[in-house]
Amino acid sequence: MSRKPFIAGNWKLNNTIAEAEELIQALLPRVGAVEDVDVVVAPSYLSLAAVVDSARGSAVQVYAQNMHEKDSGAFTGEVSAPMLTEIDVHGVILGHSERRQFFGETDRALQLKVPRALEAGLIPILCVGETEEEREQGDTERRLRHQVQEGLEKVPVERLHEVVVAYEPVWAIGTGLSATAEQAQETCGFVRALVQGFDKEAGNAVRVLYGGSLKPENAAEILSQPDIDGALVGGASLDAESFAAIVEAARG
Ligand code: PGA
Repeated sequence: MSRKPFIAGNWKLNNTIAEAEELIQALLPRVGAVEDVDVVVAPSYLSLAAVVDSARGSAVQVYAQNMHEKDSGAFTGEVSAPMLTEIDVHGVILGHSERRQFFGETDRALQLKVPRALEAGLIPILCVGETEEEREQGDTERRLRHQVQEGLEKVPVERLHEVVVAYEPVWAIGTGLSATAEQAQETCGFVRALVQGFDKEAGNAVRVLYGGSLKPENAAEILSQPDIDGALVGGASLDAESFAAIVEAARG
């Protein structure tokens, strides 16, 4: 089963519109014509429209970092799928551990967000991962099973393969301490098996990403693992050279 590699840069709460513009302009000559890897950047909401416009005509796709499950209503501070598709955003990161940890994101809400994104024409990246404590207590698989099953439960089987799942151990995010290639492979393989539990073919086709302190230095080893189809990159995606080097590593 050949799966197209997928590298996404999560810019998190970084870059004003002017800075986002500078970063995309630095990225376009380096990765704008890459066709054999899905190259994604996820700026903050305010920079989305500007980055979409700058990336138009290139191979770079632009994703949001979150989305509300409802299209409209009394939900102060939220942004919905139609607001994102109106400005030609391609997809959305959902359930990032920082959303879960600091902003009360729940598996229950994700159960609605993931199918809503697909229905609206956005590719969802569903993020899952265990905390350090959960890993130490041998709870990694239980935690991941819960997150994957809840997050994908309401996705129609025929669209399951379109979802991208990012496995990001919470203890590896922004810490400089990435999982080893063996740990990352083992756990991404487990995540794939969970998707296969819904539908064998969808599990074979779904892209599973690793995230957590991925850098140009460790990218090639991690990305060469059989069940790892790409990466969700935080810190290293803020530097055009580093991000381009990771995209290059994904081309094999
Ligand atoms: P990091 O973040 O690469 O800075 O560890 C990854 C992520 O949060 O997606």
